[in-house]
Amino acid sequence: MKNQFLTRNFVIISHVNHGKSTLADRFLELTKTIPEEKMKPQYLDMMDLEREKGITIKMQSVRMTYILNSIPYILNLIDTPGHVDFSYEVSRSLAAVEGAILLVDATKGIQAQTLANLDLAKKQNLIILPVVNKIDLQNAKIEQTTEEIANLLKVEKNEVIKISAKYGTNVKKLLEKVIKKIPPPIGEKDKPLRALIFDSKYDPYKGVICFVRIVDGQIKNGENIYLMVGKIGGKVKELGFFRPEFLPQEKLQSGEIGFLATGIKEAGKVRVGDTITSLNSKFKMGPARAGGWREGCSLNSELKPLPGYKEPQSMVFASFYPENPNDFELLKEALMKLKLNDASLTFTPERKEGLGRGYLCGFLGSLHAEIIAERLKREFDLNLVISAPSVVFKIITRKDEEIFIYSPSNWPNPSIIKKIQEPWVKLEIITPSDYLGPVSEILKNLEGNYIKRNYFSQNRLLLIYEVPLREIIIGFYDQILSQTQGYASMNYEILGYRPGDLVKLEILIAGKKEEAFSKIVPKNRAFEEGRKFVKKLKEILPHQLFSVALQAALSGKIIARATIRAQRKDVTAPLYGGDYTRKRKLLERQKKGKKKLKEIGKVRIPQNVFFEMFRS
Ligand code: GTP
Repeated sequence: MKNQFLTRNFVIISHVNHGKSTLADRFLELTKTIPEEKMKPQYLDMMDLEREKGITIKMQSVRMTYILNSIPYILNLIDTPGHVDFSYEVSRSLAAVEGAILLVDATKGIQAQTLANLDLAKKQNLIILPVVNKIDLQNAKIEQTTEEIANLLKVEKNEVIKISAKYGTNVKKLLEKVIKKIPPPIGEKDKPLRALIFDSKYDPYKGVICFVRIVDGQIKNGENIYLMVGKIGGKVKELGFFRPEFLPQEKLQSGEIGFLATGIKEAGKVRVGDTITSLNSKFKMGPARAGGWREGCSLNSELKPLPGYKEPQSMVFASFYPENPNDFELLKEALMKLKLNDASLTFTPERKEGLGRGYLCGFLGSLHAEIIAERLKREFDLNLVISAPSVVFKIITRKDEEIFIYSPSNWPNPSIIKKIQEPWVKLEIITPSDYLGPVSEILKNLEGNYIKRNYFSQNRLLLIYEVPLREIIIGFYDQILSQTQGYASMNYEILGYRPGDLVKLEILIAGKKEEAFSKIVPKNRAFEEGRKFVKKLKEILPHQLFSVALQAALSGKIIARATIRAQRKDVTAPLYGGDYTRKRKLLERQKKGKKKLKEIGKVRIPQNVFFEMFRS
């Protein structure tokens, strides 16, 4: 039998922490893909950070073989990240396979990303194998969870497999069901090459290494290739399978999943979701260029890129500044290196008074920002000051021009603003009904609209809201988790731009505007935000020799104020005895001096004040 008919390509999808990586470990053992002595928990989570946080950040793929009824099957498993920030990656890995194991933790039940990922899988028409995991745990609600899944998928309860990924219970049965239920890949070996990129990493020698699913055709070492969306050519330096380490081969063909070293050095041009095709002898070749690709190649005009490609779109921005200004170059280099295997990270240099030079970085979401910050610290030993993340605002000027605002310091003069818009999201929260009270309380404080609620099992419900993205990027999920002891979960989806009544809050110190402290806030909360800000600043700004006014302003109008009193220096201390006139003379002189100081005085703001306000 041909390889393609004995191949099964599948993913495991679930909410975060429901046990995907642990189940993948059992598969690796069962198929003897990893020698026993090399096995370690969550084998496919290769980054230290993933192990510590217990989350999957980068996908890993692995090719396994399993013999069923004396027939050796090839099983390609793609481990996917579960967090909402990485849902585009999930959607691309789903496009690379025919089936999905839907894993639900029996102690938690269906959670928000279970639904979100299931929706993505349904859109790809995948065969879905429902599974309840962690049945070994005492607090596992096996029957209830089975019922929830059966209802959700509209299948019989006995179709839901109950497993313990930790102890391997029923894992063999599940693997055999993968073979029986998930169809082999379709696609034709003799058609022109179309390979879907579902991930990539950078290698200084081999260029960008793409992780691909060969949809049609075949590709061999040394062949010329072309990226249909990125419009860039390359030459295959190496290709092969995942074990999960790279296992070089001579060729890859339709239905297979593997890696392809492209020789392309411009990492930014290679994006997840793009389609690779080959430039073989049928095409007209021009003069050779770097990377083996030739100018003037004409492509088969009938050939269309695979569907579903999306430009990664950063929705959350934060400024990163090195604590030590001398580390700016190091930060630049580090960001460039990280971008090589994370095309969705963007960064542009900026400068803020008091902070020096840094970068305004764009992320898919706030978890993504947190992970990049953590990687900069660990992998490059960089101590950073990071601003609170902000969203991208859209301004329509009186001349009907659209401008996008990534940082409050670029907020235009209100006189040219016709309309302000900001990104909104559809927010889904799943909570046990016992916690409906505290969850509603948090949601009540958000700007936004309640859409609906659905009970989808006896005591668990789904709440749907529409809110500005700005409302949920800082600390919101933590709040939900702490109020529900971790039982609620959330997911969001960008809806688009909607009107916002927003203003720029400015901060003045001793009458001088400090741009680094500016913030975009809803107009109706500006007073409260301003008061809070100057109060906090008062607590941390050191006393000066003269009194210093701290002010918050909207369009030049002061809306909050605090004063830091002058530092007291006892100028009369050296005097013994009670010569009052001398004492008064000294005090008068001090007073005059302070007045003069205040007139010419510049408040020195220590860097740590910027850092602390930035962080808060
Ligand atoms: P993300 O990749 O972050 O989405 O997580 P994940 O779905 O890969 O979950 P992971 O395999 O990392 O498991 C999360 C936690 O659940 C780990 O502490 C596992 O040891 C534990 N776990 C997974 N499966 C089982 C199980 O069957 N029984 C028990 N008792 N614990 C399990």
